[in-house]
Amino acid sequence: MLNIGLLGCGRIGQVHGATLRGMTTARAVAVSDAVPAAAQALAGSLGAKVMSSDDLLADPAIDAVVIGTPTTTHYDLIHQAAANGKAIFCEKPVDLSVDRIGECLAAVEKAGVPFMTAFNRRFDPNFAHLQRQIADQVIGDVELVTILSRDPSPPPISYIETSGGIFRDMMIHDLDMARFLLGEDPVELHASGSCLVDPAIGEAGDFDTAAVTLKTASGKICQISNSRRASYGYDQRIEVHGSKGLLRAENQLQNTVELANEAGFKRAATEPFFLERYAAAYRAEMTYFVETVASGGVMTPSGEDGLKAQILADAATASAKDGQLKRL
Ligand SMILES: NC(=O)c1ccc[n+]([C@@H]2O[C@H](COP(=O)([O-])OP(=O)(O)OC[C@H]3O[C@@H](n4cnc5c(N)ncnc54)[C@H](O)[C@@H]3O)[C@@H](O)[C@H]2O)c1
Repeated sequence: MLNIGLLGCGRIGQVHGATLRGMTTARAVAVSDAVPAAAQALAGSLGAKVMSSDDLLADPAIDAVVIGTPTTTHYDLIHQAAANGKAIFCEKPVDLSVDRIGECLAAVEKAGVPFMTAFNRRFDPNFAHLQRQIADQVIGDVELVTILSRDPSPPPISYIETSGGIFRDMMIHDLDMARFLLGEDPVELHASGSCLVDPAIGEAGDFDTAAVTLKTASGKICQISNSRRASYGYDQRIEVHGSKGLLRAENQLQNTVELANEAGFKRAATEPFFLERYAAAYRAEMTYFVETVASGGVMTPSGEDGLKAQILADAATASAKDGQLKRL
């Protein structure tokens, strides 16, 4: 049984807490949050203790930590957790600075503890199946990857201001997915960004509409398109074109029932947002983390994967601003 300390009891902390509640191989023994009421509420539902993050990280009874606090706090928590020998599951992004992520990875390496960057979309059952089909050469050699990712509506401006921008906050998931599906690191990147949804997002120095083209050394091309608003709901799709065929993962709807009548064909609405759309992925990634800590296997996505996605997000941010192609 893996004893886990949960740091951060907000949106994502509650998702991970719910997964741990249903597991037989791990349990959340302690939780911590800067807001005591948030910690109490989650602790009550998990039968866990409320602790300060310092006490939790120093507690020898805790084997692993789940870091679900705001991104700006990850750096210190990773250093403390590594120094105390804990296995670490860290929410994305690891940090908003590539240099600081490098320092986190050095601390993890020095301590020799397992570290996972929580790119949950790799664990989505459909996307994971699609990637396995690529790996099994079902469509031959990959030539073109298209990733579409659109939110139903933008977050509050206060969130935008501290998010690091659309490429580091939102597209980072798609940049990781691109690496996962291409099986190669991009060597070239070009990005475009616009503000078409809300002028306040532009005034905050960000874009709400963005596209990136990536190219690998062998010539594979990936296109990613992001919008902070889709009038029809949360939209997450992937298409991969290969030398012997095509793989496509459709958007996930609330059910698969289609109504056909004289007016045409009508399908269900999309899932509301990421918490519902990726519920299975969140469960699968935590199950994988617990199993991999127990087995001592190689952890993927690793800290290095977190770093490489961040390097791409930084290059995309720069390219969207200066219009230049970036060589990586
Ligand atoms: N993988 C995903 O799909 C996904 C989805 C949402 C959020 N995230 C990431 O998860 C992290 C948290 O996001 P969220 O949406 O849950 O935020 P949130 O604001 O809902 O929750 C964060 C919680 O951490 C608490 N907190 C702040 N500082 C703390 C500290 N030093 N120690 C302990 N608790 C502290 C806050 O009081 C809050 O309750 C971010 O890094 C975010 O990027 C990832």
